Amino acid sequence: MGIFMTGGTGFVGSMLARDLAERGHEITILTRPGEKKPAGFKEGTVNFLEGDPSGKGSWQVEASHCEVFINLAGASIFSRWNSETKRAIRESRILTTRHLVEAIAMREGKETTLLSTSAVGYYGFHDDEVLNERDTAGSDFLATVAADWEKEALEASKFGARVVICRFGIVLGKGGGAISQMIPLFKYWMGSPLGSGRQWFSWIHERDLWNIYSFLLEHKEISGPVNCSSPNPVRNREMTQALAKALGKPLFLPAVPSFVLRFMLGEFGDILLKGQRVYPGRLMEEGFDFIFSDIGEALKDIVTD
Ligand SMILES: NC(=O)c1ccc[n+]([C@@H]2O[C@H](COP(=O)([O-])OP(=O)(O)OC[C@H]3O[C@@H](n4cnc5c(N)ncnc54)[C@H](OP(=O)(O)O)[C@@H]3O)[C@@H](O)[C@H]2O)c1
Repeated sequence: MGIFMTGGTGFVGSMLARDLAERGHEITILTRPGEKKPAGFKEGTVNFLEGDPSGKGSWQVEASHCEVFINLAGASIFSRWNSETKRAIRESRILTTRHLVEAIAMREGKETTLLSTSAVGYYGFHDDEVLNERDTAGSDFLATVAADWEKEALEASKFGARVVICRFGIVLGKGGGAISQMIPLFKYWMGSPLGSGRQWFSWIHERDLWNIYSFLLEHKEISGPVNCSSPNPVRNREMTQALAKALGKPLFLPAVPSFVLRFMLGEFGDILLKGQRVYPGRLMEEGFDFIFSDIGEALKDIVTD
């Protein structure tokens, strides 16, 4: 299948593109002019197209020749937020999705699938209740961005596209993401739980995520929101202990107090101190088989070369 990707140069996208290319799909990655392209793709398997998805452009015509669209673009949320970073986080998702949907509209009724990204942050912050796809959006900043991001993607269904909203848990992988920021702390004996350590951490191993994409491509009857997270979310303390064990480092330090994180990171600190316990109800109903449903096994696999 011809697959068009935004955000295909990032941590998730570059490995997903590699996986889909190995499965025989033809991949086109849209990347902003001047941005570094990831290396390591097998010659001729992935085509890079320069263009900025936050604006209209000739890239939309190129895109409209593809049957499948994977939308991953978005500015990083890992920073101390101010009005400028919040604007970038929001616009890099809403505008890119809007322009991608315009490209889909150019397909004029041809069979089309849009797999658009969202996050479990859609549900907002919760205590212990288990959340599934039927639960409603939260009201904090990231939850409202996610809800609006999803709304833009769902517009593609007006042009006949099958739209699946992939609500990612925290992606655990070898080449980047949250874990790559945490590993150095543990190596220097500074890894410890955050705040109470009781907050839920909904996670997914990258290999399961790649398999989910292929599953969603095969199962054309699936549309709407799909939680892409392991069936066994854990508390922050459990995840921290599992990471320490995988790295062979004991946990020495007391938990990082909440007020320290809030002082250092501002509003973004809440993302680390609060969480949500998400269950992949839709994938389980449809019979998807997770390779990694145990956090210890997943982290051991990731930290092993
Ligand atoms: N990683 C996770 O744990 C996680 C969890 C939940 C949701 N997500 C979502 O999944 C998506 C992919 O995550 P990731 O970890 O792979 O992110 P990433 O490594 O930061 O990559 C994001 C991609 O988005 C593009 N991008 C960055 N800033 C942009 C901007 N201002 N305007 C337009 N495009 C921009 C970049 O492509 P070019 O530079 O090539 O243009 C980049 O390759 C993101 O939208 C993220 O919010 C990720």
